[in-house]
Amino acid sequence: MASTSTPVAHNALPPPAVSSAGRSSRIAPHSHIKGLGLTPEGLATTDGAGFVGQTTAREACGVIVDLIKSRKFSGRALLLAGAPGTGKTALALAVAQELGAKVPFCPMVGSEVYSAEVKKTEVLAEAFRRAIGLRIKETKEVYEGEITELTPAEAENPLSGYGKTVSHVVVGLKTVKGTKQLRLDPTIYEAILKEKVVVGDVIYIEANTGAVKRVGRSDAYASSFDLESETYVPLPKGDVHKRKELVQDVTLGDLDSANARPQGGQDIMSVMGSLVKSGRTEVTDKLRREVNKIVKGYVDQGVAEVVPGVVFIDEVHMLDIECFTYLNALLESPMAPTVIFATNRGNSLVRGTSDIVSPHGIPVDLLDRCMIVKTEGYTREQVGKVVHLRAIVEGLKLGPGVLDKLAAEGEKTSLRYALQLLTPASILAGLAGRMQIEVEDIGEMNELFLDAKTSAAVIGEGSNFL
Ligand SMILES: Nc1ncnc2c1ncn2[C@@H]1O[C@H](COP(=O)(O)OP(=O)(O)OP(=O)(O)O)[C@@H](O)[C@H]1O
Ligand SMILES: [Mg+2]
Repeated sequence: MASTSTPVAHNALPPPAVSSAGRSSRIAPHSHIKGLGLTPEGLATTDGAGFVGQTTAREACGVIVDLIKSRKFSGRALLLAGAPGTGKTALALAVAQELGAKVPFCPMVGSEVYSAEVKKTEVLAEAFRRAIGLRIKETKEVYEGEITELTPAEAENPLSGYGKTVSHVVVGLKTVKGTKQLRLDPTIYEAILKEKVVVGDVIYIEANTGAVKRVGRSDAYASSFDLESETYVPLPKGDVHKRKELVQDVTLGDLDSANARPQGGQDIMSVMGSLVKSGRTEVTDKLRREVNKIVKGYVDQGVAEVVPGVVFIDEVHMLDIECFTYLNALLESPMAPTVIFATNRGNSLVRGTSDIVSPHGIPVDLLDRCMIVKTEGYTREQVGKVVHLRAIVEGLKLGPGVLDKLAAEGEKTSLRYALQLLTPASILAGLAGRMQIEVEDIGEMNELFLDAKTSAAVIGEGSNFL
């Protein structure tokens, strides 16, 4: 790992030190959070999975994750309450990560309900439907394998005098166990052409419908490019002709919108077309009930399984009284997901009313349905640890004493402020031609920028800007 350390002649920042893996995704405010960091017994380690401290709240969220996984928490709500920058949003995202990709997680912000086109309650109802998953399992007879041969056989066109048509197609499929040559109907050849499969791809063909699905490219053909759009899959095991369990994950929201707009094909262009044409069709309650009925039928037959997921409503105090009463009803409906709310308000006015003041700006009847978890503020040491984590994620080097300085800063003001100082300070360091942030950069940042408390104090002193 000998990086070229030529002195930087221009003002540009040196690119962040890249690890040997060489790939890092875009850095979002929460990208250091990888989960709740709990032991198998559900206890929080002081620091784990990118989370520092906040142990009680993390353990509480761990219990909720277990309840959701065992499907015992649907129709109930968890409220994360605490001061700004204490990790409420981070906790909710960690819950999503713990649940995994198979459990639907539908995040939204309270203010999203205010749209000119769609009713507020409709936005909420849709979010709730998107958070209920449906896993459809079907066992189907398939032919699966890597294509070794793909030869269309042509014949004279019986209808017109000239030109040829495909009379059948010979496909060779290979698995770990053996190979098989299939003679297939010309319509299946069309499906093959549509999926754009070539020799070396792994596909399966459904025996009774002839539907062709490309799984990916056989990993025998894996190349050494750094960037490509291909997915490589191993050679399928078992026989070519077998029964295979196909699993499909959809949400009730998907089913609703597909049924509200049943016209058009399935390819991307017709989807685009339908988006442009009709604004947004409202999904009626009647349609939802119909969809529920069909889903119930599938569940009774054992074909499908309902997977209740999570709706996360951040900044829930932005909802108004109409939304809150509607939420009460939604929470009590038979197919309700788990709901997580987050807010940083103390006692405040419930939006949409003129005199109802209640804790967190949430009416007491909804609050009564919530389990409340409080997030605590951070100590200097904890701020230091979070800053350290962020510096690693953002690829920044800190000089001696910088961490202490930022930790002290964060304790005095807020964790967010300390985190926000990092990037601008790194730019200052870059301008000075240094690879790492020094204490004086932080000092200069403090002169350039005010934290929220100082700013408020300045205004409080009576210096009005007008
Ligand atoms: N315990 C923690 N460990 C690691 N990082 C944390 C922790 N708590 C907060 N953070 C990070 O600090 C920043 C602020 O936290 P977050 O956005 O979750 O605060 P919040 O409680 O949602 O605040 P607000 O009420 O203003 O929305 C984020 O970048 C978050 O990832
Ligand atoms: Mg937040």
